[in-house]
Amino acid sequence: MQYRNLPQTDLQVATVALGCWAFAGGGNWGPQDDSDSIATIHAALANSVNFLDTAEAYGDGFSERLIGRALKGRRHEAVIADKPAPGRETPEELRRACEESLERLGTDYIDLYQQHWPNRDVPLAETVGGFERLKQEGKIRAFGVCNFGPTDLDELLKHGKPATNQVAYSLLSRAAEFTIQPICRERAIGILCYSPIAQGLLTGKYRSADEVPEGRARTKHFSGSRPQARHGGPGAEELTFRTIAEIHRLAERYGLSMAQLAIAWLLTRPGVTAVLAGARSPDQLEQNVAAAGTSLPDELVSGLTEASEELKAALGDDADPWDYRIR
Ligand SMILES: NC(=O)c1ccc[n+]([C@@H]2O[C@H](COP(=O)([O-])OP(=O)(O)OC[C@H]3O[C@@H](n4cnc5c(N)ncnc54)[C@H](OP(=O)(O)O)[C@@H]3O)[C@@H](O)[C@H]2O)c1
Repeated sequence: MQYRNLPQTDLQVATVALGCWAFAGGGNWGPQDDSDSIATIHAALANSVNFLDTAEAYGDGFSERLIGRALKGRRHEAVIADKPAPGRETPEELRRACEESLERLGTDYIDLYQQHWPNRDVPLAETVGGFERLKQEGKIRAFGVCNFGPTDLDELLKHGKPATNQVAYSLLSRAAEFTIQPICRERAIGILCYSPIAQGLLTGKYRSADEVPEGRARTKHFSGSRPQARHGGPGAEELTFRTIAEIHRLAERYGLSMAQLAIAWLLTRPGVTAVLAGARSPDQLEQNVAAAGTSLPDELVSGLTEASEELKAALGDDADPWDYRIR
């Protein structure tokens, strides 16, 4: 495993972290067995993955509770990134949310506490003040944000500096490269990449858009007429699957799995602190972790970058995978 510094802390975090959203199952993910989830967290620790990302919103505290169960007696082995539910950004709500999360996680500190989505009804000066107080009290070690675009980052930076900005970033979702990534690099804000294998699309398990489960066929890759989509746009289904086919061809040529390739490519991108890869079983976890030790030849990195340029241009610079909430 390789580690990188979590900005503004003395923590070293695994470059391939475990994303814990799917443990909540439900509409987006379908049934998930708790014993598989716990075994996946234990496999993460056994494979030197010390970084876990969760949120209050993942099953209304379910994912946090599950992490609490899995880490009983082992809290010190993990760096936990968590998020209050969207809408809880006033200092009072932030405190209540944090205390509730600590209870569910069975711990007395959260390493990285992140605003889940921008909330333009609450001044960022207040939210940052709330985070700073939690930090002074030792309830959190650092604060971060998610889904902050250039305008929100600009406003935020007037009041404080986040350790990280968590954004959708994969070979199929490169919108963050237009403006978010340059700002994060310039201001030394670590980028945490979410949905790095495009919720399974980059494993090659789906041959066409119609095979993708409804709860996932709602990003802007898919037609806005898909049942759970809310972006209302045309999507880019044909181009998405053409891009996947080209990435698959490169994976075969170099004898690597697509997931490994997708994660290893992200780790070559500037400004990235860690890739948050979701896994629902120890087997998936182990496949994804293999990417951390995979050094891609330069011509393969540029081949992958080239293969995803047309889709990047077609989807544009809006980094919200599902909607248009990022500014
Ligand atoms: N801040 C935010 O707004 C935000 C938004 C989204 C995600 N996140 C974070 O980022 C994490 C990762 O993103 P994500 O879960 O959306 O997507 P992802 O990591 O791109 O995809 C995860 C899913 O892909 C499948 N998969 C994973 N590894 C696989 C493998 N080796 N072979 C085959 N299938 C595999 C699994 O689902 P199946 O087996 O069911 O296919 C898994 O649940 C989340 O868990 C969460 O912590 C944050």
